[in-house]
Amino acid sequence: MTDSEKDQEPTQQVEAARKAFEQEFGRFARFTGPSPDLSGLNLEEAIAEQRSLAELRTRHLGKKSALSASKKSIGRVAPELRASFGQLVQSIEGTLTYALDEAEQNLKNCIDDERTTLESIDVTLPGRRPRRGHRHPITLVRERLEDIFVALGYAIEDDREIETDFYNFDALNIPENHPARSSQDTFYTKEGFALRSQTSTVQIHAMQRRGVPVRMIAPGRVFRRDTPDPTHNPMFFQVEGLCVDRGITMAHLKGTVAEFLRRMFGADTKTRFRPSYFPFTEPSAEFDFSCFKCKGAGCRICKNSGWIELGGSGMVHPNVLRAVGVDPGEFSGFAFGFGIDRMCALMYELDDIRLLFENDVRFLEQFE
Ligand code: DAH
Repeated sequence: MTDSEKDQEPTQQVEAARKAFEQEFGRFARFTGPSPDLSGLNLEEAIAEQRSLAELRTRHLGKKSALSASKKSIGRVAPELRASFGQLVQSIEGTLTYALDEAEQNLKNCIDDERTTLESIDVTLPGRRPRRGHRHPITLVRERLEDIFVALGYAIEDDREIETDFYNFDALNIPENHPARSSQDTFYTKEGFALRSQTSTVQIHAMQRRGVPVRMIAPGRVFRRDTPDPTHNPMFFQVEGLCVDRGITMAHLKGTVAEFLRRMFGADTKTRFRPSYFPFTEPSAEFDFSCFKCKGAGCRICKNSGWIELGGSGMVHPNVLRAVGVDPGEFSGFAFGFGIDRMCALMYELDDIRLLFENDVRFLEQFE
């Protein structure tokens, strides 16, 4: 290598570095100058270009770049040429930096603009209101009857839906193999539990927990092995009532049920009791009330009878009191039970109680 070749080498290196940069920078050139062309770049593309540009900068101006390597070779340049070599390197570095800065700034502006457009909101547009929820028709009826009973001095009991045989049957005077068990067939677990088939279970829990005297109602879900049809569903709602004290008679039962129905369906509502049978009451009665629609004249709702059958009732069987350690010689009581969904279907004139369990908002929206 001659001396002049040696001197030339660093200068050539610098020039080569500049050429390599220009070649690679070519595709970014349109982002520079007085009227940069950023048309047709969407946000993602602009961000990708910004990233490639940053990589380009590291490659050509970073510590490991050819330009930075050639700076270090200034020692090989003849002393009288060092000043001009230094100027050359500086001016190339300046040109590269300027071009990169310019392209970078324009891309950044483009990204900022895109973001502003994308994220801007028209504050004059009407807001989107969240859909307003409301109470289910069964809840509406339940709350009405709860209000009435609370006003009559009753407590509201809420108890478990999974039960043992003891609460669902035995304590209610329905021993094993009693025919009443079959009409109340329910769903069982392998561990010997069952979904309660009646809210009468809460009579037992309430007397065990509160002792006597007691006055309570217990609205809640019950389950039976039924095939769904317009008047049956394997899950439905009942409300149970229980009043136990000294000297409670059937007159109290009749007065309470009649008053409840008057408050629920109007002051002119009449009530009637028919003898019946339930294992946990003796004597037992079913009760009907005069049709709220036709006032007893006969219509579609009461099937032209003028009366609507509602539920069962009676004087608490001594065996039920004994099952919870209450002395039937000292205490007596009455109990009643009826279906909330049935009452709800009547009040809203629904042809099919399954509507209440399908959770179709088009149906549910119509209430309240
Ligand atoms: N548990 C009964 C049923 O599901 C309804 C019932 C009848 C409840 C008479 C009572 C009652 O408390 O005294 O069919």
